Amino acid sequence: MTSGITFPHTACIGILGGGQLGRMLAIAAAQLGLQTHVFAPDAATSPAGQVATLATTADYDDVTALRHFAASVDAVTSEFENVPAATMEVIGASCLASPGAAALRAAQHRIAEKSLAAELGIATPRFWHIRNDEDLASAMQMLDGPAILKTCRLGYDGKGQRRITPGDDLAAAFTELASDDVILEEMIAFDSEISALLARDANGAMCHFPVTLNNHRNGILATSVAPAPVSASLAEAAQTAAAALAGAVDLVGLLAVEFFVDADGGLLFNEMAPRPHNSFHWTIEGCATSQFTQLARVLAGMGFGATTSYGSWQMENLLGQDMARVPSLLASAGAHLHLYGKPEARTDRKMGHVTSRLGD
Ligand SMILES: Nc1ncnc2c1ncn2[C@@H]1O[C@H](COP(=O)(O)OP(=O)(O)O)[C@@H](O)[C@H]1O
Ligand SMILES: [Mg+2]
Repeated sequence: MTSGITFPHTACIGILGGGQLGRMLAIAAAQLGLQTHVFAPDAATSPAGQVATLATTADYDDVTALRHFAASVDAVTSEFENVPAATMEVIGASCLASPGAAALRAAQHRIAEKSLAAELGIATPRFWHIRNDEDLASAMQMLDGPAILKTCRLGYDGKGQRRITPGDDLAAAFTELASDDVILEEMIAFDSEISALLARDANGAMCHFPVTLNNHRNGILATSVAPAPVSASLAEAAQTAAAALAGAVDLVGLLAVEFFVDADGGLLFNEMAPRPHNSFHWTIEGCATSQFTQLARVLAGMGFGATTSYGSWQMENLLGQDMARVPSLLASAGAHLHLYGKPEARTDRKMGHVTSRLGD
């Protein structure tokens, strides 16, 4: 069901942020005849700005530029969860703002998102909010085992994290993170990591994607396999948890949730992202509707597309150091290659990904 729109439908989707997620959203939107307008400090040359219909180059706190941007589009989404809350408030005053204020607030802070999960009865690793050396010393005494310290805000791809064990110089570890807003988590000896993704519209209707199995290297997603080869009950538990979180923050758009599966097959919430997610890039070739198309459809009022998967798939990220492999991937028949248009290949920088079909 679409929300009464007629065709041709020439809506314009605003995208805050110029990275690869915005780029792939802009490409999906274009396929549906929609326009896109990217707003970012480096919009014109950014991966998303290169393929969008329009680009505004301005800072996220430039209220005048934000108002012009909001007036030029029908809906706005953010391709990164750290967009300042005030930015979204300015935009939300004049058009549909996805994922919504509550979703951003929760996803921007590791204590907030884990507390929300816990309130909803979703298990998490044990965690403590750390403000100073003394907090850390007493939490480590309670934990009495291997742990991981993470900055509560702005971490990604394993950045702003440090692994510690009880014998370590805790004060030095805390100083190294250069923040007084830190989370200490017990280190989970997980069997595997999985992620769930759903789309939710403004009426609260939801549509799930098949769950994905993820493999990280140095805190960065390396490969994903989907649909995840896990039991139906585990996949369903992940989707149920994601649905509870999406409902609790009245999300509009996409919500991805990362989980650990422990040695007993138990599911533990790790983190959530109210946007397209790296572990679902396989849906571009592997699903009837990709995560990017689904978001464009929700934002343009076109209703959900089917999320049936076409067999099983593997997605591999291509980092700066992997660029020498591109010629052989180009020559490989089954390799669906995506490059993000980033001119400089730095080590560990996400430059592209490649998806291949594994079988039926
Ligand atoms: N408590 C934990 N126990 C075990 N491994 C962890 C824990 N927290 C993070 N990791 C590992 O580090 C990766 C990145 O951490 P995550 O919290 O997802 O941060 P980011 O925002 O950088 O993705 C995880 O996918 C997982 O492999
Ligand atoms: Mg993560």
